[in-house]
Amino acid sequence: MCGIVGYIGKRDSVPIIMDALQRLEYRGYDSAGIAVIDAAGHLTGSKAEGKLANLAARLRNGESLHGTTGVGHTRWATHGRPSDANAHPHLDCSGHFAVIHNGIIENYASLREQLLGQGHQFRSETDTEVLAHLIESHYNGDLEQAIRHTLAQVRGAFALGVISQDSPETLVFARNGATPLIVGLGEGEMFVASDIPAMLQHTRKVVILQEGEIVTVGRDGYALSAFDGTPIEREVQQITWDATSAEKSGFKHFMLKEIFEQPNVIKETLAGRIDEDHDVQLGPELKIDEIVLRAMTKISITGCGTAYNAGMVGMYLMRSLCKIPVEMELASEFRYGDRAMDARTLTIAMSQSGETADTIEAVKIAKDAGTPVIAISNVVGSHLMRLADATLLTRGGPEISVAATKTYVSQAVAATLLALYLARVRKAAPLERLREIAEGTKLLPAAVDVVVNTSDQVKKVARKVRKARSVLFLGRYVNFPTALEGALKLKEISYIHAEGYAAGEMKHGPIALLDAKTPVIGVVTEGRVREKILSNIAESKAREAPIILVANHGDDEAAALADHVLWVPRVDEMLSPIVNVIPLQLLAYHIADIDGKDVDQPRNLAKTVTVE
Ligand code: F6R
Repeated sequence: MCGIVGYIGKRDSVPIIMDALQRLEYRGYDSAGIAVIDAAGHLTGSKAEGKLANLAARLRNGESLHGTTGVGHTRWATHGRPSDANAHPHLDCSGHFAVIHNGIIENYASLREQLLGQGHQFRSETDTEVLAHLIESHYNGDLEQAIRHTLAQVRGAFALGVISQDSPETLVFARNGATPLIVGLGEGEMFVASDIPAMLQHTRKVVILQEGEIVTVGRDGYALSAFDGTPIEREVQQITWDATSAEKSGFKHFMLKEIFEQPNVIKETLAGRIDEDHDVQLGPELKIDEIVLRAMTKISITGCGTAYNAGMVGMYLMRSLCKIPVEMELASEFRYGDRAMDARTLTIAMSQSGETADTIEAVKIAKDAGTPVIAISNVVGSHLMRLADATLLTRGGPEISVAATKTYVSQAVAATLLALYLARVRKAAPLERLREIAEGTKLLPAAVDVVVNTSDQVKKVARKVRKARSVLFLGRYVNFPTALEGALKLKEISYIHAEGYAAGEMKHGPIALLDAKTPVIGVVTEGRVREKILSNIAESKAREAPIILVANHGDDEAAALADHVLWVPRVDEMLSPIVNVIPLQLLAYHIADIDGKDVDQPRNLAKTVTVE
């Protein structure tokens, strides 16, 4: 949450920073701001409440801003409501230092009191502003040193960036916690940003900062060190992604583009992980001794939001195939629950970004209890990846839409592969069955391709559902997470209230909600609970609820029961969540789009949640 950017070089930094902010806007869009050192050597800037477009309009309409050194920020509000005054960059009293910040300064209130006592005057309600005043109070001609003293006083997980008109040839950035920060190396120019797509059109050479590091950046180089001043050497990484994966490529929204990318993403997630005998081979990647995996007595899966739902797909597979108790807990609950864990518990942490604060803290607790941790994550070098003993990369590529789609599917595929691998290593299920499922994964890209191409049909159904005030999603067994994910997608981008429910639970309460204006969306594809869920749907129909079903092609029974059917191809039941979620993603997308909602940047949300 919050995107931060810095540029130093020969070019005007303003258009470069504005472009980078646009690529980081998924991280927050409550306000945006920019500060530069102008040609006269003065620190100057502009900021505006609301989306980046407001700041761009301000710059177009007269607020002329130029300079070859600058920083920019796009905000997801934590301390202080969205407003011009609370927008970053924040300045000290003298107006010599501009600070941008992502994360939370936990002890800001006491620091603010102290600074007020020393005569500092504050212009905002943010925690960030204390940083600017602290830097001012420590400044003795050496910007980096003032920032080091400041860092010694503040607590929290954050990344910050500073420019000063007294050091116009320098950017200083620091990272403390699960808040990403990347330096991009150009020719006579340097970039800093919260995420790689922000700089990808300028450079593919990057250095990823780790927790407790500070970087001082000039036009021709950078110096990386620990907070205590110890110099650090870090290998420069070459980014191999295609820059167009961070572009809309003709689609109306990133979300739609990312839904359509899913057949290829599944191919990527599977690539090289299933051998010719259809055995899943993850040993070389995970590098965890098979003896250790065989000795496990429990699996504990955690994550947040969509990642949690994908973890639940893994849970059903592991329960069925690995013959081992599998627990599932939201990371935000995990971190405060008292739980029985030891070195024979295998923790699996799901996180697209690898930055989510609750997931990181849950993993730290699991590690303190001595459990081996496997991360399922999309981001190479993420905080989670470094904490975990092993990582299974989902290889989804950059996901720009705030609502996760392709990363859900890639997480569910990765969790499926992990279940098949663990079951084989533990000799917990017949090899033929494991191979049958593994072989079935090869059909997934084509099956998902069929479903994404029903987008226009789904749009027609969307027109029927969009007026609903509340929608109930029902699923059972492996498709209970599909119902949860369908509901999450709908509520987050259309703002329609939606509940994902285990269908059998409906009669224990939610059935009271049903009437002719409350659609029920049920997942009734083939499998062991199909008859059961059809009964639950019949119960809903008896209460006059409009019925929409996700069903396999040719399912006459479903067609007879439903007002509308979202058709999907038949795949192995254990793989069906990967296919069945696609029409629900499309449904949420079209409802939000028809209603003119801000599909890629829904209100109040941010892509990566680095606060508790
Ligand atoms: C929903 C969504 C969120 C994330 C959640 C965890 O579409 O994207 O629910 O899934 O914030 O994020 P990661 O996977 O980055 O830990």
